Amino acid sequence: MDEERILDPDEKNGENAIERSLRPQLLEEYIGQDKVKEKISIYIQASKKREEALDHVLLFGPPGLGKTTMAFVIAQELGVNIKQTSGPAIEKPGDLVAILNELEAGDVIFIDEIHRLPRVAEEMLYSAMEDFYVDIMVGTGPTAHAVHFPLPPFTLIGATTRAGMLSAPMRDRFGIHLHMEYYETKDLEEIVLRSSEIFNCEIKESGAFEIARRSRGTPRIANRLLKRVRDFADVKSDGVITKEIASSALKMLEVDDEGLDLVDQTILKTMIELYQGGPVGLSTLAVNISEDTETVEDMYEPYLIQKGFLKRTKNGRMATPLAFEHFGYPYLGE
Ligand code: ADE
Repeated sequence: MDEERILDPDEKNGENAIERSLRPQLLEEYIGQDKVKEKISIYIQASKKREEALDHVLLFGPPGLGKTTMAFVIAQELGVNIKQTSGPAIEKPGDLVAILNELEAGDVIFIDEIHRLPRVAEEMLYSAMEDFYVDIMVGTGPTAHAVHFPLPPFTLIGATTRAGMLSAPMRDRFGIHLHMEYYETKDLEEIVLRSSEIFNCEIKESGAFEIARRSRGTPRIANRLLKRVRDFADVKSDGVITKEIASSALKMLEVDDEGLDLVDQTILKTMIELYQGGPVGLSTLAVNISEDTETVEDMYEPYLIQKGFLKRTKNGRMATPLAFEHFGYPYLGE
């Protein structure tokens, strides 16, 4: 689907200064993900006490849950510099060496979408992570040789959407594995209230709740919806975000009562209307909504599964009785 998707959790471009200011800087400002915070807080304190670099950290979780924010918070809490890059941005080993070359002792390097790192760069990271050196090939043909290049101790923080996408050798080199989960509505409500304060916009608690519960458990979506609802409140009313204003704005944005947007709705309706609820192969579903398989699997499916609208079976994806009920269809399965 080419048109802008209001609930797209993957859209990070065009972040402006105000949006950046929404990002919490410290663990105590970070709302939600309590289990992750509890663990990482202990590891950070221990590494500071021992004056050692923090062990490498792997952050798993669907897009928009704050993996990048968490990486920056960790660096801030450690009191070190952070260098940020991503798997697709590193095209050749030299791109990685350029970043590693700038590291100071204890620094953090954050690699988003680490599962998309080219193979050669990934292999170079193995020695960097384990023994803090890289061997760089210099020259070509018979004069080619490896130059040993020591690195200061550093912490690699990698982020990926699904654990299974990372090779086992890579996964094993991370001492700390942290799973980010969809946020609870009460946490999202707090995030919306905090963001409204930063935006200087008046909001009722019931308005924040309405936005929170329809944000697919995702802070990035909650903050995006907040901005659109604020526009609606400014134009159609006195600027105050009430439950009614939030509901009307979300209706206009075609976000339904369960927080499903048009793409989610299309996926489920396709399954029900064209395939009697399934089972349907993932690639067939993807073709039906003009998306690639990976996007459906990473961005749409996890939330639909978690909300109980879709389930995976060995023969394909199935719409659940709840999905039939949500769209007002009689259940055709079993
Ligand atoms: N803004 C976006 N995500 C946040 C979070 N987890 N805590 C506080 N503010 C946020």
